[in-house]
Amino acid sequence: MRIGVLTGGGDCPGLNAVIRAVVRKGVGQYGHEFVGFRDGWRGPLEGLTRPLGIPEVRGILPRGGTILGSSRTNPFKVDGGVDKVRANLAEQGVDALVAIGGEDTLGVATKLDELGVRVVGVPKTIDNDLSATDYTFGFDTAVNIAMEAIDRLHTTAESHHRTLVVEVMGRHAGWIALHAGLAGGANVILLPEREFDVDQVAAYVEKRFQTQYAPIVVVAEGAQPVGGQLVLHNQALDAFGHVRFGGIGQWLADEIEAKTGKEARTVVLGHIQRGGTPTAFDRVLATRFGLHAIDAAHEGDFGKMVALRGTDIVRVPLAEATTVLKTVPVDRYTEAEVFFGS
Ligand code: F6P
Repeated sequence: MRIGVLTGGGDCPGLNAVIRAVVRKGVGQYGHEFVGFRDGWRGPLEGLTRPLGIPEVRGILPRGGTILGSSRTNPFKVDGGVDKVRANLAEQGVDALVAIGGEDTLGVATKLDELGVRVVGVPKTIDNDLSATDYTFGFDTAVNIAMEAIDRLHTTAESHHRTLVVEVMGRHAGWIALHAGLAGGANVILLPEREFDVDQVAAYVEKRFQTQYAPIVVVAEGAQPVGGQLVLHNQALDAFGHVRFGGIGQWLADEIEAKTGKEARTVVLGHIQRGGTPTAFDRVLATRFGLHAIDAAHEGDFGKMVALRGTDIVRVPLAEATTVLKTVPVDRYTEAEVFFGS
C-alpha cells in the first residue's frame, strides 16, 4: 500500500514519534510506502506533499513540533474541498491515510471515512480532552513544563510577597491546570468546568499570605467567573468555529490586586507548553500509537482510532473520538480543593 500521513491542529510534543513509528514499522515490517502530506488537511486539499521514508524519520524521536507541519484547515469548509482531497489522493496513488490530530482533525477523518476514504486516526492533544482514550500524548509534556514554571514562580513570588497567576491552556477542559496545579503545589486552581467566585479566590490568596508564603493561582484559559464571561483574545473564528482564548490571567490578577491591596502579576505560559522535546511518557505513548495505527492500516481496519485503555492500546470507531469531550469530573476538582488557600 501507499499510505499518506498528516498531522493537523495545534502541534504537540510526540507527533514526530508517531510519524517515526508508523514509517519504521510500515516500511520495515510490512513493506508499505509512505508520502507525507504537509500542514494537516491542507496537504490533501492542495496536493502538498513531502517524501516520507526511513531516512526522513531518522533522528526525529526527541524533536518537538511536527516534520510534516500543521494547520487548522477544514476541507469541508472549502468549496469542492472533499472532491479536491479525493483527486489529490488519487493523483498521489494513496490507498489510505493515517491522520494524527485532535477532535477537529479526527472529525474531518470521521466524515471522510463515511464518504469512503480509508483512514486510521491517532489521537493527539495537549489538552487530554478526548473521551475515547485515557491519555493523549503531549499532555504529560505540557503538564511537566507548567509544573516547572510553577516551581520557579513559587520562589520569586515569595521573595516579593506577590500573588502570581499562571494562565495555562485548556479551552473547555482543565486537565493541564488541574495536574500542573497539583504537581506544582498551587494554592488555587481554576478550571473551565466550574465557574469561580472571585471573592473566594481573593480570600484564598489572603489566607495563603497569612502563612508567610506567597499564593500561586493556576487558571485555565477557559475558566470564567460566576455570572461573568469568557475572556477572549479576539472573536475571530477558525475553520472549526473556535475563538482564540487568552486574557483571564491578567483579568484575575487585576481583580485580586484590587481586592487584597497586594501586588498580583500574571504569567501566560501559552505555546511554551506545546514546544520542545516530549517527555519519556509521551515518547512511549506516541510510539505505541504509531505502531498500532500502522497495524490497523495494514490489516485494512479503517475508520478506527487507536486509544489507550489502562496500559493497552485498543482500536475504537473514529466517530467515538470526537463525540464526547472529556472534562474534569467534580470529584477530581474536590480532591484538589484541600490545598486551596493553605
Ligand atoms: O487544542 C490545543 C490547544 O493548545 C488549546 O489548549 C489552545 O486553546 C489552542 O490549542 C491554541 O491554539 P492555537 O495555537 O492555534 O492558537
